[in-house]
Amino acid sequence: MTFPAYRHLLNLQPSLRLLNEPGQPPVQPFAAAAFDETGSAAGLALAELPLTGDNPPELLSLFVAREARNRGLGTELLAYLEGQVGRRGFAELRTVYTVGKPAIGAFERVLTKCGWAEPTPRTLSVRLSVEQALSLPWLERYRVRSGCEIFPWTELTDDERRALRLSQEERGWIAKDLVPWRYDAHGFEPLTSLGLRCGRDVVAWVINHRSAGTTLRFTCSYIRKDLGRRGRILPLFSASIKRMRQAGFSACTFVAPMRHATMVAFVRRWVQPWANSVTQTRGSEKALRSAPAIGTLGKPEHEQTSADGDPAVGETVDTTLKGPASRL
Ligand SMILES: CC(C)(COP(=O)(O)OP(=O)(O)OC[C@H]1O[C@@H](n2cnc3c(N)ncnc32)[C@H](O)[C@@H]1OP(=O)(O)O)[C@@H](O)C(=O)NCCC(=O)NCCS
Repeated sequence: MTFPAYRHLLNLQPSLRLLNEPGQPPVQPFAAAAFDETGSAAGLALAELPLTGDNPPELLSLFVAREARNRGLGTELLAYLEGQVGRRGFAELRTVYTVGKPAIGAFERVLTKCGWAEPTPRTLSVRLSVEQALSLPWLERYRVRSGCEIFPWTELTDDERRALRLSQEERGWIAKDLVPWRYDAHGFEPLTSLGLRCGRDVVAWVINHRSAGTTLRFTCSYIRKDLGRRGRILPLFSASIKRMRQAGFSACTFVAPMRHATMVAFVRRWVQPWANSVTQTRGSEKALRSAPAIGTLGKPEHEQTSADGDPAVGETVDTTLKGPASRL
């Protein structure tokens, strides 16, 4: 009842949202489950609550068994989850989801019914097999300009790392969410992650991660603005793609946040025309009311029972509802 990548969260212990993904703070999973009158699972809403930092909680998945759909259970589950998250003092709940699947119409209808904001585009994601990547027509077309060299990111020196941080503090030349240390601190794919040195300066990088078995994800790429025009970052991608087979990858994905117009334009121009799959995500959010629920005020935590109570973070919820899938 949730995505394979989130199944580890169902033990409801603090964890990374995605195993083997760097740069994430640990989160507290929170789930609300619905059961029908025979005790069979009918639906599941899964969210993550932040344990550190100021990221808002996020709805990760909402699922209702096929035979129980279109009877209000998805709406009921989400409304219940919102209430519980709000009661823990969080002011907002967000969600990001992939569009193009058959149930997205129903999911967005549920969001509307629950009063969420109009969904907006968040990321563009393009997938290529290793064969498609190796046949990209620009792979051999662009050369590294003279005075510059490509180097494995594993060979970035401590001095260069310090210089990058210092120059960012002084000049803020790197988009804040694309600073390399956000993506390499907890590991990265060592063979295909590369940097570009021009003179003594590190001016560009392509930092990648293994995602889902043999898929390589181009997670973070950046080139200094004054050097970025006319495909100057392409030699880095070319070198990286040529190492994919040796590193054991059968496919790769390019993911561009919609708010980075240049990244989106890059993916649309240089990758999308040769890709076998293009997906977009949309996102929405809702401001939460954080007032405690009626009937539980003043009760000690252990007496706050399931029917309208406040289960400890991470417990699944068991409360009675009307209707065919009757226990939420
Ligand atoms: C999305 C999902 C959870 C909804 O659960 P549900 O119990 O059917 O939801 P509800 O009955 O509360 O509401 C469904 C609403 O969508 C509407 N709907 C159904 N199919 C629709 C479609 N193709 N386009 C637009 N609206 C649709 C229903 O008419 C209903 O709206 P209404 O109450 O105004 O008539 C369920 O369809 C599901 O599990 N899908 C598969 C998993 C999934 O894709 N989850 C979303 C991303 S994580």
